[in-house]
Amino acid sequence: MTTSSITDLFEHNRQWAAQMEREKPGFFTGLMAQQKPRYMWIGCSDSRVPANQITGLEPGEVFVHRNIANVVVPTDLNCLSTIQYAVDQLKVEHLMVVGHYGCGGVLAALQDARIGLADNWIRHVKDVRDKHAALLAAVPLPKRHDALCELNAIEQVMNIAHSTVMQDAWARGQKVQLHGWCYSLQNGLITNLQMSVPDVAGLAEAHRQAVALVAERAQS
Ligand code: CO
Repeated sequence: MTTSSITDLFEHNRQWAAQMEREKPGFFTGLMAQQKPRYMWIGCSDSRVPANQITGLEPGEVFVHRNIANVVVPTDLNCLSTIQYAVDQLKVEHLMVVGHYGCGGVLAALQDARIGLADNWIRHVKDVRDKHAALLAAVPLPKRHDALCELNAIEQVMNIAHSTVMQDAWARGQKVQLHGWCYSLQNGLITNLQMSVPDVAGLAEAHRQAVALVAERAQS
C-alpha cells in the first residue's frame, strides 16, 4: 500500500479531473446543473468502505452519509437532515444502510471496549447487542462479531423506517425503499441482508425474516 502525501492528492485530483473530462466531455458542467441521485447510502466512516467505488457509482449517483458504525439515531440532526433532504428534495428511490464485517465500532460495542468519546455513540450499537442478546449468545464466538454487524445494519434500517421523514414519505405514497446490506472487507462483496422495506406495512415481517437469516448464517 502506498502512502500519499498531500501534494500527491492534488496531483491525483488534477489527473482524475482531466481523465473524467476526456472520457465524458461535459461531465462536470452537466453535474453543476443538478444532482439527481437515485440512491442514498448510510455507511460506516471506515476508510475501507467507500460507497461510490464499491457500487461502481459515479459522482452525482449516490447521496452519502457516513458515521462510526453506520448508526441512525432519531435525535441526530446531522443524519436526519441528510435523510430528509434525500427523500423530500432529491427523491431518492433506494436508501441503504451498509454495515461492514470487521467494523471496529461494532466490535467495541460487542466487547464493551473503551475507545474514547465514541463510547457514547457506540452505546446505540450496544442497544442492538442487548436487544439481540439471546441470538448472539447462541452464535459461536468467531462469528458473533459478524452477526452483530449484520444486526446493527438491520436495526438502523428500522430506525430510518420509524423516522418522521420516512413515515411521512410513505403516507403520501412516495416510492422509496429501504435496504440493509453488509460489506466484506475480505473480498469486497456486499451481502444483501434481505432487509428490504418498500413501505410501512412490510416492516415487521421484513425485520423478522432478516433477523432469522442472521441466525441462519451464523450457524452455517
Ligand atoms: Co466500521
